[in-house]
Amino acid sequence: MSRHLLSVDSLTRDSVNHLMHVAARMEPIAQRRQVTRVLEGAVLGNLFFEASTRTRVSFHAAFCRLGGSVCDTTGFTFSSMAKGESLYDTSRVMSGYCDAIVMRHPDQGSVAEFAAATHVPVINGGDGPGEHPSQALLDFYTIDKEFTRLGKKLADAHVLLTGDLKYGRTVHSLIKLLSLYDPMRITLVAPPGLEMPDYLIDLVASRGHRVEQRTSLADDYADVDVVYTTRIQKERFTAEMSEGFSLSRDFTVDRAFMDKRCGRDTIVMHPLPRDSRPEANDLDVDLNGDPRLAIFRQTDNGIPVRMAIFATLLQVDELIEKDLRPVRWFVPERVGVDDSPL
Ligand code: NCD
Repeated sequence: MSRHLLSVDSLTRDSVNHLMHVAARMEPIAQRRQVTRVLEGAVLGNLFFEASTRTRVSFHAAFCRLGGSVCDTTGFTFSSMAKGESLYDTSRVMSGYCDAIVMRHPDQGSVAEFAAATHVPVINGGDGPGEHPSQALLDFYTIDKEFTRLGKKLADAHVLLTGDLKYGRTVHSLIKLLSLYDPMRITLVAPPGLEMPDYLIDLVASRGHRVEQRTSLADDYADVDVVYTTRIQKERFTAEMSEGFSLSRDFTVDRAFMDKRCGRDTIVMHPLPRDSRPEANDLDVDLNGDPRLAIFRQTDNGIPVRMAIFATLLQVDELIEKDLRPVRWFVPERVGVDDSPL
């Protein structure tokens, strides 16, 4: 694996498999059964210049669960970028303070520019509509775990990606990551104007996958194994696009769609947040509590996967086993009301 994690382009099937293996070893720590201090003394710089809850907090929590400490800054307003500081200068300064840096920024390519000015490992936490590689890794880890539970295989799987495929960076990274594996079927359904960029479709097709674009969810998806739906990224629309845009209910993944169109063990994923305002027509809350809804298992998986990324980039992945101790505080059996015991 390269020094930074900026794009799925730098990953190979072997490096992904290694990260998945390390993530599985992190599970007892993520599930609060054991503790480790392998990153004791290390400091993470967590720089978020765009809205975030789970990515920012889970990177922070993952670093803490490895025994490290975290410094963060959120939003441009309270950073020196508001005073006109360049990415180069911020990067040079932060690398004097921190041992690893996570950055999210609204401009595509900005995190790579930031990383070019430092020798400290940098992780892209999302660069505008570009990429979100750690999300793709946790999505892949989720698919793998769910398939193992359901007795399914990745080869020949059928994955449906829907929602905003143009600006959704999570689907850009995920489709690249899936393309590293044995040929599968990938179906893309986007509202008009929000289709997956052609260069990504060409890349995936050139690696032997069957990619099909459809215009509607009102179709037969009985053999789909994964429905991966995404929020419309309105904040990235031009003024012209925003004018009068509203997402038709036809693109909503809800219980009726799952019951009528999909299989009994089709899983539903979403990078979250889902836009729960009724007019948004995002993933419906009527699937809450349905075991097919994997979204909260997916967010939980963010911790072991991000721990694995840090441990690998900072080269302590071989030390974890030697450093484990049992947890001493009270840990509830389950963490959330809707958590299915899968
Ligand atoms: C996504 C993101 O920021 O790209 N969220 C996340 O990181 N889990 C998806 C989104 O904002 O819609």
